[in-house]
Amino acid sequence: MRSARKTKTVDAGKAPTAASTMNAIVQERYGSAEDFRFARIPRPEVAENEVLLQVRAAGLDRGTWHLMTGRPYLLRILGFGLRGPKNPVPGIDVAGTVVAVGSAVTTLTAGDEVFGIARGSFAEYAVAREDKLARKPVNTTFEQAAVVPVSALTALQALYDVGRVQHGQKVLIAGASGGVGSYAVQLARAAGAEVTGVCSTAKLDLVRSLGADHVIDYTEDDFADGSHRYDLILDIAGNPALSRLRRALNPTGTAVIIGGENGGKWTGGFGRQLRATALSPFVRQRLTMFVSKERSRDLERLTDLIEAGAMTPSIDRSYSLDRVPEAMRHLEAGEVRGKVAITI
Ligand SMILES: NC(=O)c1ccc[n+]([C@@H]2O[C@H](COP(=O)([O-])OP(=O)(O)OC[C@H]3O[C@@H](n4cnc5c(N)ncnc54)[C@H](OP(=O)(O)O)[C@@H]3O)[C@@H](O)[C@H]2O)c1
Repeated sequence: MRSARKTKTVDAGKAPTAASTMNAIVQERYGSAEDFRFARIPRPEVAENEVLLQVRAAGLDRGTWHLMTGRPYLLRILGFGLRGPKNPVPGIDVAGTVVAVGSAVTTLTAGDEVFGIARGSFAEYAVAREDKLARKPVNTTFEQAAVVPVSALTALQALYDVGRVQHGQKVLIAGASGGVGSYAVQLARAAGAEVTGVCSTAKLDLVRSLGADHVIDYTEDDFADGSHRYDLILDIAGNPALSRLRRALNPTGTAVIIGGENGGKWTGGFGRQLRATALSPFVRQRLTMFVSKERSRDLERLTDLIEAGAMTPSIDRSYSLDRVPEAMRHLEAGEVRGKVAITI
């Protein structure tokens, strides 16, 4: 993670110029959406391997929720800040226009339209590392591009690089209606798999519309009841026990554990991932855990897939920058279908 910069609210007595400040969401301590403050703060400065972006849109994702709450606590020990977030401006996903480049930047120039990862994207300007950005797909708006990075990188890498999806395989996606799942369903279909999506009743239509061949309403049916078996399971939500995952897998199938909420305040239920990795060498099934990687070459793969029509960002709602707290409450309520965008 990029080293933190101190972000101070501008002191009215110092008469800052409009060119040196910007509107942003600021959060000084871990807490809830009530701790988000709309403020005028200094614009960030670029390091040599970074670019300054005029943010046109940002995306909201679960990771931003974790950094807002500081939960699971493991995050704090891992270096994201003990008492409050190291970077007081929230937001990870970004789409925007390059307005300045650091001295060591070689692939981007002012005026380029890009998308990717920029910690502190809930602001009018944000800095981003060159190797975490890629060219914005020509057939998307900035809003659409902004909701792609974290969720679609996760879906892409989990499905292709870790899950090694094959044409004709039966693939189950648990958590198909959310950020990661809405991309995973589309990408699995694009790979020629037979896709089953697991979600709640209200979102069955969304998951069908994304291209799932079959849907399972987890409030009515259990994907692990033994009636169907899958070659590959992407376990994105619901925290199923390992025994249930294994029951739903073919004898030589693969399960990729990506996430799941409500798994405990200290580790977020990470023990499930560790147990899966420890058990995997002793069984015929492949049980894996996965942490996504933020890299421009995979963002470029996403650009190609979007431009080829294999994947389209699914935006539930858009909010203006001053309404980020409302957007976060919408996510927390579990109401989001696909993704939420923040327009700047
Ligand atoms: N490993 C990594 O690198 C990585 C990267 C990104 C995200 N993650 C993690 O992955 C998880 C999902 O992220 P996200 O961005 O997709 O979150 P999200 O947008 O909040 O979506 C999660 C979805 O899970 C569904 N869900 C809840 N309970 C379920 C259940 N019992 N069975 C099936 N679906 C259920 C919800 O839909 P319904 O209303 O339909 O239930 C919701 O749409 C989070 O825990 C996140 O932290 C991990």
